[in-house]
Amino acid sequence: MRLWHNPASPFARKVRIVSREAGLLARIQEISVAVSPVNPNADLAAHNPLVKIPALQTDDGKVLYDSSVICEYLDTLHSGAHLIPADASRWDALRLQSLCDGILDAAVLCRYETFVRPEKYRWDDWVKGQFAKIRNGLDALAAESPAWGERFSIGQIGAACVLGYLDFRFVDENWRQPRPQLAKWYEAARQRAAVAATIPA
Ligand code: BEZ
Repeated sequence: MRLWHNPASPFARKVRIVSREAGLLARIQEISVAVSPVNPNADLAAHNPLVKIPALQTDDGKVLYDSSVICEYLDTLHSGAHLIPADASRWDALRLQSLCDGILDAAVLCRYETFVRPEKYRWDDWVKGQFAKIRNGLDALAAESPAWGERFSIGQIGAACVLGYLDFRFVDENWRQPRPQLAKWYEAARQRAAVAATIPA
């Protein structure tokens, strides 16, 4: 299989953590591509009409996107414990994944707005609105993290990607300070090999 990704992308990271947790890494060729909203990568464009990462080409030539679909597909390819549970905890796990994806949508949009978009086109109130979503989402993660225990399914994988991305791109946000329990959870999650191997640098 081939995975188009970028080491900075938190959505691609979710897939890369799943592939490692599921023991599938040896079956996947990771192809790092530069991403730009105005300069699309031609190879990626030939496989994903949205020119977005992550995209996964399966062994039979299908190309899958987005990260949630790819994670669900990879979870069918291994015989270990499901990362997307089939039991009653499934809906909690999928809801948590959606919460984390929403926080990441807001964070990546803020990154583009404040770093990539030319300064004269920037819109401060819009950025404030996105940051409110990020902070509300983090508060929701903090409220539920004490109940996670040792669980590390798709929801917790999403949470690790959120917190890693904030550390990477928004260090001044200091998300840990008002959320010590979430910080404690993340310190333990960072020790997992799949998480440690994919920390953006
Ligand atoms: C970033 O550089 O922050 C980034 C790169 C790819 C996708 C999303 C974010």
